[in-house]
Amino acid sequence: MNDLKVYLPCGAGVEDFLVAEIRAITGQAPAFKARAGVGVVLDWRDVLRLNLHSRLAQRVMVQLWHGDYRNEQDLYRAASSVAWEVWFTPAQTIKVEVTAQHSPLTSLNFAALRIKDAICDRFRERRGERPSVDTHWPDVRIHAHLTTESLTLYLDTSGEPLFKRGWREDTGDAPLKETLAAAMIAASGWNGAQADSLDEVLPLVDPCCGSGTLLIEAAQIALRMPAGWLRRFAFEKLLPFQPHVWQSVRDEAQRAQREWPAGHPPIVFGSDVSFRMVDFARRNAERAGVAQAIELRGGDALQRPPPVSRPGMLLLNPPYGERIAAAGVAGQRAEQRAASRSQGGRESAQVGDGGDDADFFRQLATHWKTGFAGWTAWLLTPDLKLPGKMRFKESRRVPLWNGPIECRLFRFDIQARRPSSVAPGGADHEPA
Ligand SMILES: C[S@@+](CC[C@H](N)C(=O)[O-])C[C@H]1O[C@@H](n2cnc3c(N)ncnc32)[C@H](O)[C@@H]1O
Repeated sequence: MNDLKVYLPCGAGVEDFLVAEIRAITGQAPAFKARAGVGVVLDWRDVLRLNLHSRLAQRVMVQLWHGDYRNEQDLYRAASSVAWEVWFTPAQTIKVEVTAQHSPLTSLNFAALRIKDAICDRFRERRGERPSVDTHWPDVRIHAHLTTESLTLYLDTSGEPLFKRGWREDTGDAPLKETLAAAMIAASGWNGAQADSLDEVLPLVDPCCGSGTLLIEAAQIALRMPAGWLRRFAFEKLLPFQPHVWQSVRDEAQRAQREWPAGHPPIVFGSDVSFRMVDFARRNAERAGVAQAIELRGGDALQRPPPVSRPGMLLLNPPYGERIAAAGVAGQRAEQRAASRSQGGRESAQVGDGGDDADFFRQLATHWKTGFAGWTAWLLTPDLKLPGKMRFKESRRVPLWNGPIECRLFRFDIQARRPSSVAPGGADHEPA
C-alpha cells in the first residue's frame, strides 16, 4: 500500500500549520494545499501515523477516484469502477456522505444514493452479497466531494473526526474543539514540543480555561503524547489493517514520549471563575494522562496573579457573547449596573453589547500590565474590536475559523504600565 493519495481536511486558516505537522510526522512534503485541507502522497504506515499523531487534521482520507461528472449516472459509473473489495467486505456496514461546492446536481441525497447503489451492486456481482447501510455507526465511511465539474471519492480511515481524542467527557458551555486549540498552540509558536527539557518549556497559562482543552492539548504536546492515543480508528476495520503494523506504530510513539519526572513542578497553568469548570478540567486532564503537568485553580482572571515568577505565555479564548460569569469582579459590577438600569426601566445589558464586555477587557488589560509585564498574550476571538477594547496594539493577528465563525488570534506583548501614560479617565493607549 504505497503511493496512496491522501487528503486531510482541516479548519480554514490551519493549512500552513498542517503542512508543517504532516512533515514532522511523516517526513513527507505535502503535494498540495487547498482551502481547509492538505493533500499528500503516503504509504499505509504513514496513514496510521497521521491518524495517531495529527492534532490539526479533521480526518485522514484516502482518495480512490477523481474525475469529471455531469450527472448522477456518471457518479454511478465512477463508484462502480473503484475496487472497494480491496478495502472492506460485504459483511461491513457503510455510509456515503456527499459534500458539494457549486454542484449542478439538484439533490445531494440522490447523489449519495447512486454512489451507495454502485458500491452495493459491485459487491453483489463479485461476492454475491452487498454491504448494508448504517447511518449512525458505520464500519466504513465513504466521502464524495462534488465541485462544478469534478467528483472525488474518498475512503475515510479515521471514523469519528480526529478532534475526538477520547478523553473528553466533561464539557463546558462553549468548549474549544481540540483541533482549534491545537491550531492556536501551533500559531503561537509555543516551544512545548521542541524544548530539550521540560525546564525549558515556556510556562503556558489559560486564565479562562473552561473544560481545559488548551491546557490538555499543550501538556500532551510537551510530553509528546499522541493526540489519538486513547481512541479507535476506522482503519482498524479495513482489510489492509495488520495488527502488528499498528502495534509497531504505537510502540514507536510510546518510545518517543517524555517521562514526567517525579516531583517536577507543573508546566501548564489554568484557572476559571467557575469552580465547576475547574473540576471538569481536572477530570479531563486525568483521563488524558496529563494531570501532573497541569496546575488548576479557581479564580477570577481579573485577580489571579502569575503562577510562576518568570514570564511566559497567556493563551485563551475569553468569554464572548455570554454573560461574564457573575462570580467575577466585572460580572458583579455588570449585575449592579444592570440592576440599577432595570430599576430605571431599561433592559439589562449582556456581555458582548460593547458595554460590560469592554469593561471586562479593559480591566483584564490593566491587570496584565500590572502583574504580567514581559509576558505574551494570545487571545482567540470573533470580536475584531478586541484590541481597541483592551487598548492594546496587537503584534500579530492570525485568521482562524471556529467552525463557520471567522476569528482572529491576536498577540499582545505585555509591557509594564507606564504611570505617566495614564490619562485622567484611566485611558492608556500604549502598545500592549
Ligand atoms: C469560551 S469559554 C473557554 C472555553 C475553554 N477554552 C474550553 O475549551 O472549555 C470562557 C470561559 O471563561 C470563564 N470565565 C468567564 N468570566 C471569567 C472571569 N472573570 N475569570 C475567569 N474565567 C472566566 C467561563 O467560566 C468559561 O469557562
